[in-house]
Amino acid sequence: MTIQPTGAEHVAPVAGDVPEPGAVTVVIPTFNEAGNVRELLRRIADAVPHRVPCEVVFVDDSTDDTPAVIADAARYCPFPVTVLHRDTPDGGLGGAVVEGLKAATADWVVVMDADLQHPPALVPDLLATGEKEGADLVVASRYLPGGSRAGLAGGYRVAVSRGATWLAKGAFPRALGSVSDPMSGFFAIRRSAVTADALKPLGYKILLELAVRCRPTGVAEVPFVFEERYAGESKSTAKEGLRFLRHLVELRTASPLARMAAFGLIGLTGFVPNLAALYVLTGLGVHYLPAEILANQFGVAWNFLLIEVLLFRDRRHHRHWADRVGRFALLANADLVVRIPLIALFVGQLQLSALPATALALLTTFVLRFAGTEALVYLPRRARAARTGRNPR
Ligand code: GDD
Ligand code: MN
Repeated sequence: MTIQPTGAEHVAPVAGDVPEPGAVTVVIPTFNEAGNVRELLRRIADAVPHRVPCEVVFVDDSTDDTPAVIADAARYCPFPVTVLHRDTPDGGLGGAVVEGLKAATADWVVVMDADLQHPPALVPDLLATGEKEGADLVVASRYLPGGSRAGLAGGYRVAVSRGATWLAKGAFPRALGSVSDPMSGFFAIRRSAVTADALKPLGYKILLELAVRCRPTGVAEVPFVFEERYAGESKSTAKEGLRFLRHLVELRTASPLARMAAFGLIGLTGFVPNLAALYVLTGLGVHYLPAEILANQFGVAWNFLLIEVLLFRDRRHHRHWADRVGRFALLANADLVVRIPLIALFVGQLQLSALPATALALLTTFVLRFAGTEALVYLPRRARAARTGRNPR
């Protein structure tokens, strides 16, 4: 739905001393923000100079009357306002922003929240800074001198936000080197720097997603004061914290080598449930051999869950979960069966002693298991068919 302006018309940009941005699309995700959108549009209209062509795109997942309130308020706006209402809120806040990025038409896209915690008055500064510094991305930061997180409710949220920032910067020292506030939801990005198809947002941290996957060249920052919410309540929950961790792992393990390392780390953590089960079972008097086999299943289950959630989230849907469990368990247990003859082979043929033979066997089965898991559990059926030269259909 696009609501055409009835008030002042757009005026073409005039050449001035300071480079003016060509045009701007403001993307605003909304989830039940009826109490905020009227004031928000009013302040955007006040902030953006009339000579800068501007459009506002709301991507709305509301269950209240937010779209109707936007439609009414838009009648008094000097620029076009679009509401993209989604019936299924895929990807939550991040998914909504990606929809907005795809719908944007201007050279610059500004992403901001609807609750006025992000001051609209800053929009022209973000654009001017981007033009002046030739940057692709301009982040509104709470952590620069002059900025603050005054509106972040409570010491708990401040600590969580700080910790998340530290984690993200630690995980991506290069991509986030010049971003002091990668958790910010307020930024301007050149549309030419956005490769929307490469984005797989998960939860709230869309700036992190953009900075890591699109690698915009030239990043600038502008300080801002994170205000109190104007009306309504935050939609963020404790679940969002877990989602953020998953998001970080996913971004970090985008390359095959990194995924193999993560696979190994997860495998190592699997020793804990494995050994714990072995301890309990042998304590109960179970013979060590069946106990070994049974205990191995606890490690397998643990590894499977972590791998599903952290490593192959976007590749789970190629097979039914029971199919995946079966294949995974088969591979993980084959590991046990293959290891013994392999050790015998290394000792017999390569004249190795037991310890290096075991280490070599562990390494071999690990690599085989990783390759097998990728190929047999998580590879899309079609890609496999294409690789072997068969017609997928
Ligand atoms: N379309 C859509 N779908 N919009 C959503 C959804 C959703 O599922 N969830 C939240 N939003 C919208 C809200 O309506 C609001 O406009 C904006 O996203 C931010 O949501 P809040 O619930 O107000 O988030 P917050 O204040 O806790 O977090 C904000 O500040 C953080 C910094 O501490 C966000 O900007 C975060 O990205 C940011 O990290
Ligand atoms: Mn908010």
